Amino acid sequence: MELTKIKDNFNFIIFGASGDLAQLKIFPAIYEMVLQNRFEGSYSIYGYARSEMSNEEFRKKFKESLEQHVDRNIYDEKRADELIENVYYYSGQYDGDYSEFADQLLEVQGGETVKNLAFLSVPPVAFADITNSLGAVREKLGGHVQLMIEKPFGSDRASAGELFKMIGQNFDKEDLFLIDHYLGKAPVQSILPLRYNNTILNILLKGQNIENIQISALETLGVDERVGFYDQVGVIKDMVQSHLLQVLTLLTMAMPVNRDVKNIRREKGNILSALRYDRDRCGVSLGQYEGYKDLEGVEKDTNTPTFVALRAFIDLTNWYKVPIYIRTGKKLQHKHTYVVIEFEKPEFSEENDDIEGNRLIIELYPHEDIQIKLVNDEGKVADSDQDVLSQESLACHGDECLPAYGRLILDALRENFTSFLSIDEILASWHFVDDLMECVSENNIKVETYKAGGDGPEAHKKLPEEDGFKWYDPDKL
Ligand code: BG6
Repeated sequence: MELTKIKDNFNFIIFGASGDLAQLKIFPAIYEMVLQNRFEGSYSIYGYARSEMSNEEFRKKFKESLEQHVDRNIYDEKRADELIENVYYYSGQYDGDYSEFADQLLEVQGGETVKNLAFLSVPPVAFADITNSLGAVREKLGGHVQLMIEKPFGSDRASAGELFKMIGQNFDKEDLFLIDHYLGKAPVQSILPLRYNNTILNILLKGQNIENIQISALETLGVDERVGFYDQVGVIKDMVQSHLLQVLTLLTMAMPVNRDVKNIRREKGNILSALRYDRDRCGVSLGQYEGYKDLEGVEKDTNTPTFVALRAFIDLTNWYKVPIYIRTGKKLQHKHTYVVIEFEKPEFSEENDDIEGNRLIIELYPHEDIQIKLVNDEGKVADSDQDVLSQESLACHGDECLPAYGRLILDALRENFTSFLSIDEILASWHFVDDLMECVSENNIKVETYKAGGDGPEAHKKLPEEDGFKWYDPDKL
């Protein structure tokens, strides 16, 4: 298969180039693109940050990050050096006058105006300064300036609306690539194509066949040095608001015949705006891991949750009354991200109660596979040999095999908007989260302390049990 190549010349600018995300994810992702010969034209990678640093010092940092974070098996010093020759640094304030910086961008491309893609790897407080300053030099750069921005997009619907209004003063929607890094993950990118290509999945993925949907994103790491940010946000805004709602949306959305970005976004938006938490019972359980309150920089009585389990519904006829359980938390026993779809049991069975239903399981981490659990002639899942398992279906193939940030940068360079969020999707997700936060505070939902390295707060287990279900863990038969 031919790999997608970027033929045009471009500048890729990383604001916040001395930060963690840049070093851990962005630089290595660019290296992999170079290794795969994705850039056919001339390109420059520009780091922009406040720290004083020469080009040489930045190049050294860049190379060190490649040495540390690129997989040893694919690290090739010659290719790394080839990339480094195209790396530059500019030190400046975010709210400064970018004219001199713009001159350098032009100079490095021999005076030609090319596409400038700017990745804002900075805290949101810097968004306004950067977008205003970039907006001011836009014309000088021939108008070709686009932005990649990552969450948090505000802290509720109203502030997200304000943020996009502010960005909109200088940039059109078509210049914005709004990132959810889950949408760059190979198995997440595979969900829709898999649904398009497998009739059996589409026959199955209808509310009338499904008893419940469970989405789990269990993490082992704690919050540690990110606590300053995290304590303001908490787990619902950090993980549910975008990552897990996007996974849910890709699985449940109606599939437009024409897969262009407008249609895909319309259908994703339909799910997100029909999503509601369980209003009757406010089905939410919250937890905080033991030791969180001792982290430096938080109040000793902080109530910020690091674990949530919730029940939601999609108010569309196709998904009527199908409970959706979502849970995610930090400092748990295993890092495991997966979706379980439990199917209705056969109605005509005499021993209906004893029969296990079929399950469709989509594992995103650490395995990337899709499994269908069949039961045996006794109605049991007794053996993993009964599974229909495909590792191939969710794996990346050829062109798609890049780390998540690599795919997203490539998709931004080739303007493939389906890998990015739309403003409407973000606002609809916030609407759901705002309602949920209101139910948490109105019902005074307590934050239960849970053991670090355990399986989360006890109360969360009751959530599906109230409806006659259980959290299903594919690792425990
Ligand atoms: C980030 C959150 O967006 O996603 C982190 O801010 C979280 O708190 C991370 O750990 C999870 O991503 P992944 O790719 O490890 O599942």
